[in-house]
Amino acid sequence: MKLLTSAPRGTQDILPKDSYKWRFVENLLLDQASKFQFKEIRTPVFEHTELFLRSVGQDTDVVQKEMYTFLDKGNRSITLRPEGTAGAIRAMLEHNLCNENLPVRLSYIDSCYRYEKPQSGRWREFSQFGCEMIGSSDPLADAEVISLCDSIFKRLSLNETYIEINSVGCPKCRGKYYESLKEYFEKNKDSLCNTCLSRLERNPMRILDCKKSDCLKIAENAPSILDFLCSECKEHFEEVKKYLDVAEIKYNVNPKIVRGLDYYTKTVFEVISMHEGSKGLVCGGGGRYDNLVEELGGPPTPALGFGLGIGRILLAMGDLLNFIPQYKACDVYFATLGEEAKTLAFQLANILRDSSFVVECDTLNRKLKPQMKYADKIAAKFAIVLGEEEINSKKAKIKNMADSSEKPISLDNDFLKEFFEIYTDFEKNKLLGN
Ligand code: HAM
Repeated sequence: MKLLTSAPRGTQDILPKDSYKWRFVENLLLDQASKFQFKEIRTPVFEHTELFLRSVGQDTDVVQKEMYTFLDKGNRSITLRPEGTAGAIRAMLEHNLCNENLPVRLSYIDSCYRYEKPQSGRWREFSQFGCEMIGSSDPLADAEVISLCDSIFKRLSLNETYIEINSVGCPKCRGKYYESLKEYFEKNKDSLCNTCLSRLERNPMRILDCKKSDCLKIAENAPSILDFLCSECKEHFEEVKKYLDVAEIKYNVNPKIVRGLDYYTKTVFEVISMHEGSKGLVCGGGGRYDNLVEELGGPPTPALGFGLGIGRILLAMGDLLNFIPQYKACDVYFATLGEEAKTLAFQLANILRDSSFVVECDTLNRKLKPQMKYADKIAAKFAIVLGEEEINSKKAKIKNMADSSEKPISLDNDFLKEFFEIYTDFEKNKLLGN
């Protein structure tokens, strides 16, 4: 068989054998966020390109190399979202959510798109869980957001992840820092890659984020932002750390963290996995972005948040994924012979489903033997065979697939009642180990 095509590079098909794991993690993320009063927002997969140019920043890798941008049929420049923050803030402003109660707390699970070189933990289409808290400049808000992130990893039993924090200051303290960085990198200009050379003038802090080995090496001894923080940023950072200490949240201060997007001010942080098979993988990150709301046309409003790569979390979970509860098994399989039996099975199946049982009927018009084989394969607990005889007598046999024992069951108004009795008996025996 020659397939017409395969999935595009950097995308993943999540098959039924894995999708329940994704659903479990997604539910847990939204549930944990809801304990901190974050409420879900859903925004479009594509936005006007200028939204990301303005928010993510012209000098970032995301904007320069990775965005899926195209002209639509109306000649508008459209971009598939590379991250969730910009769309969430745009929607918040468009719907005046910040005129209601502050702080606004939003959570989301977004599919995001970045044209990156695919590798383990890096896809061109990926799922991002994010939380944004808009309206508070208090360091407690930073600690709360980091605490939510920390609590998620604890709930997932991902004990070998650690949090790194830094402060990237505000435009005020960055002026002097940029000068010092420029001076330092000018001296080492010859070893910088072309991209970093172009960053030297406009945004030298971006050089600290370059992954090229030569640039990384030079960046090692670059001046630290922490030595340049203004008194307000310094005090803010000290307060954040104080709250984290009180909450016994473990973290390392790493002055090299600048994050890959341009909107950050003051606190930034990353969560890094040290689990077998995903060592060094950045599962998530975030920070404060006190100027973004205004940049996008809103009133001056402090804000902060974080994003986690769900695919990366699943990678980091490794063997822990085996403990995620699987899909509910099939309670009853209806094997049918003939049109009338099919119709009756269809009705009875829906009666059972209305009572929360998991039911499947034959839809391939197979002979009885392959139908029973199929019931075995899907590990159905019970099978009910319906044919002409059963329909005429309004009685059928229900077969316990584990021990092949059979019991009679009525096909009239008593069906559900009798099924409940048989099912309760079955569960009781299972508990007693019979
Ligand atoms: P980010 O660090 O660019 O931040 O992405 C957040 C997380 O998304 C990363 O830590 C990683 O786990 C995941 N991620 C990013 N790119 C990929 C990829 N190509 N494949 C798989 N996973 C990926 C943001 O996007 C910010 N919006 C986070 C934020 C929210 N800051 C404040 N609020």
